[in-house]
Amino acid sequence: MSHEETEHTLPSGCPSIRRVMMPRDTNAFGTIFGGVLLAEIDLAAAIEANRRHSGRLVTVAMDTIVFREPVYVGDLVSFFTKTLRIGTTSVRVRVDVWAERRFSRGEDVFVTEAEVTMVAVDQEGRKVEIDGGRAKG
Ligand SMILES: CC(C)(COP(=O)(O)OP(=O)(O)OC[C@H]1O[C@@H](n2cnc3c(N)ncnc32)[C@H](O)[C@@H]1OP(=O)(O)O)[C@@H](O)C(=O)NCCC(=O)NCCS
Repeated sequence: MSHEETEHTLPSGCPSIRRVMMPRDTNAFGTIFGGVLLAEIDLAAAIEANRRHSGRLVTVAMDTIVFREPVYVGDLVSFFTKTLRIGTTSVRVRVDVWAERRFSRGEDVFVTEAEVTMVAVDQEGRKVEIDGGRAKG
């Protein structure tokens, strides 16, 4: 899905992660630091990929990351995930991030999007085949 094709409707399903942004998450300008969102995007992608592979997974690539709108302290931020592709050893996940504004009557804003590729690895960090995981749809 390209940027232009992205739907702007709040996903109806359950997000992989939901959390309230706190003052400790801010940058020097008082809005939420992009790195905080990237860490949560990485984790949300791992949760999604773990539905496809029950073993260890590592992130090989994070791309198509677009910070569309700022996120503010107090926003309730939801990380919605979707598996885009299951390869031989990798799973590609889309993460759509929505912020429920704390101070704007709960308005829902599509703030960030990303695509993350996770690779299944063994205990030595060598790639292995995707095992199908504990898929719940
Ligand atoms: C992930 C890792 C094990 C891949 O090892 P590799 O032998 O080089 O793997 P390959 O190049 O054959 O790629 C393995 C899979 O990843 C995919 N892949 C590799 N690079 C990619 C990239 N830049 N973007 C998207 N997918 C990529 C390949 O298409 C392949 O998928 P498939 O088997 O489903 O077709 C290795 O690169 C690694 O250990 N990286 C560090 C991971 C890490 O520590 N992440 C945390 C960040 S601190």
